[in-house]
Amino acid sequence: MRAVIKSIGAYAPPRRVSNDEFAKIVDTTDEWIVSHTGIRFRHIAADDQAASDMAIEAGKIAVERSGIAPEDIDLVIVSSASSDYLGFPATACIVQNTLGLKHAGAMDLLAGCTGFIYGLETAKNFIISGSAKAVLVIGAEILTRIMNWSDRNTCVLFGDGAGAAVVTASDDDDRGIIDSILRADGSGAELLERPAGGTRKPFKPGETDPSELCLRMDGGKVYTFAVRVIVVTIKALLEQNNLTIDDIKYIVPHQANSRIIEAASKRSRIPLEKFYLNIQEYANTSAASIPLALNEMTEKNLLKKGDKIITVGFGAGLTYGANLIVW
Ligand code: UT7
Repeated sequence: MRAVIKSIGAYAPPRRVSNDEFAKIVDTTDEWIVSHTGIRFRHIAADDQAASDMAIEAGKIAVERSGIAPEDIDLVIVSSASSDYLGFPATACIVQNTLGLKHAGAMDLLAGCTGFIYGLETAKNFIISGSAKAVLVIGAEILTRIMNWSDRNTCVLFGDGAGAAVVTASDDDDRGIIDSILRADGSGAELLERPAGGTRKPFKPGETDPSELCLRMDGGKVYTFAVRVIVVTIKALLEQNNLTIDDIKYIVPHQANSRIIEAASKRSRIPLEKFYLNIQEYANTSAASIPLALNEMTEKNLLKKGDKIITVGFGAGLTYGANLIVW
């Protein structure tokens, strides 16, 4: 038995913000942002939207496209670094209720920008073990809500959105989520963090520096880490499945910076054209970036049955990983 991606859905908030808008609030330019990151636009959620609102939109589309009744979904996993609530309740529970997933368990998964990759592998194992027949995996982020809007090093880089996949059991041995690599290097935990508000550094009115409630990143160090792990992870996944890069139709990377992908392409000698990029439109949407890209690819009819693809990601934790999928 295999676990296959039966359907994909995605949602991006309608408000589309150009780099020029950022030049009005921080010392930056469209030229700097495009040349250093490849980002031209990002979508920003409305004030009354939370991560679950976007997760619900994406999840609804994926469930409808799957043809599976909501009550037949056994589990919903929401990967998010910007969930509705600090700690609890899980954003997945809000999604479960609104989508009418009456018989589903619901849990959040925190693996930073690698969250969707971790989510797919988790779903696969629930299916292969027989404990679930259909799992809804969602990556949903509203990172603009936790930005320090006076920090040009970070605020220009992120956007909001959600993507979802319904993973089901299949007897077709030639398709599915074939293999994954999930890894972490917690020694880099402080390189990408939201320092205060948790139990390590609880919020104290009048004492907590508001910027410590926002995302903080050592961009240069994360950049170096990202290029290295993209290269080693793809290589390891190919080797352990006796494949070469010529067997792979597309690599769908986490969209953090097009220069990271260009550097990884150069170092690994994998042609840049194999990497699917849409960062120019959405910026970095963390756990949502890979399903947003997969959704776009399916809508453009780029993925045919039997195509082998690799997703690869990295992010807060630090985490990294990849899935090998036969479409
Ligand atoms: O999703 C996973 C987590 N995120 C990432 O993977 C992001 C990883 N890192 C990156 O993408 C890049 O390191 C950045 C985009 C964050 C920075 O790009 P860079 O080419 O590595 O720039 P840099 O850090 O070398 O900075 C060069 C200069 C600095 O000025 P000084 O100190 O040399 O005077 C920055 O202050 O660029 C400055 N800078 C900016 N200038 C204009 C940083 N942000 C901006 C900005 N506009 N928005």
